[in-house]
Amino acid sequence: MRYKFLPSFVTRRGRITQSQENNLNHLSDFEITSYQDILSSKEGFSKLVLEIGFGNGENTLRLAKNNPDTLYIGSEVYQAGIGYLLGEVIKDDINNIKITSGDIRLLFEDIKSPIFDDVVVICPDPWPKLKHHKRRMLNREFLELIHPIIKENGNLFMSTDWENYAESIGEAVNNSNGYQKLDSSIYENSELTKFQKRAVEEGRAIYTFALKVI
Ligand SMILES: C[S@@+](CC[C@H](N)C(=O)[O-])C[C@H]1O[C@@H](n2cnc3c(N)ncnc32)[C@H](O)[C@@H]1O
Repeated sequence: MRYKFLPSFVTRRGRITQSQENNLNHLSDFEITSYQDILSSKEGFSKLVLEIGFGNGENTLRLAKNNPDTLYIGSEVYQAGIGYLLGEVIKDDINNIKITSGDIRLLFEDIKSPIFDDVVVICPDPWPKLKHHKRRMLNREFLELIHPIIKENGNLFMSTDWENYAESIGEAVNNSNGYQKLDSSIYENSELTKFQKRAVEEGRAIYTFALKVI
């Protein structure tokens, strides 16, 4: 069967530690695999936020600890990162993080209503070579796909550290309907993630896109 989307991620196992492997055995206790899972998990929470490509989850963790009334769904395919975040969630007994472990775009198709208050994407894989640009996740198709599942007045925050990727995201935003550009976002002022820190160390700027769904 042909895969529906070109993979936007590199399939890497990374250096997975034994404890991350062990944590992965508990994934099903925290896992979201369907719209129905989202509906039942969000009961009792005042807001629902999705972070796509959480890496090691440091941003998801910080947000969740600071906002106990919000349920955060972290999306990642990188097993070592999922294992790491699971370890922190279990260790600190965090009850407002759930994890979804496949290509997030496949889950979008199962979601039947505007359910997310905010969606956050920080440093998606940059795919810097021209021949790989088609693998970039943030494009016009993505903006169309995600629009119906974010609430009206909800926020989409995207950030990249690659100038050329930022240019193409800017174009996609300008050519898309249903979004209003905002001057700032609460997600802009968070501590830097691992990939953002690396970008700054390597002298690259961080470009952000704060959008409101209208
Ligand atoms: C460059 S890393 C950035 C990680 C983290 N946000 C940071 O800033 O440190 C991008 C992550 O997005 C994940 N990713 C890429 N495409 C994805 C998709 N379609 N669904 C879920 N995760 C994805 C990759 O596995 C990778 O770990």
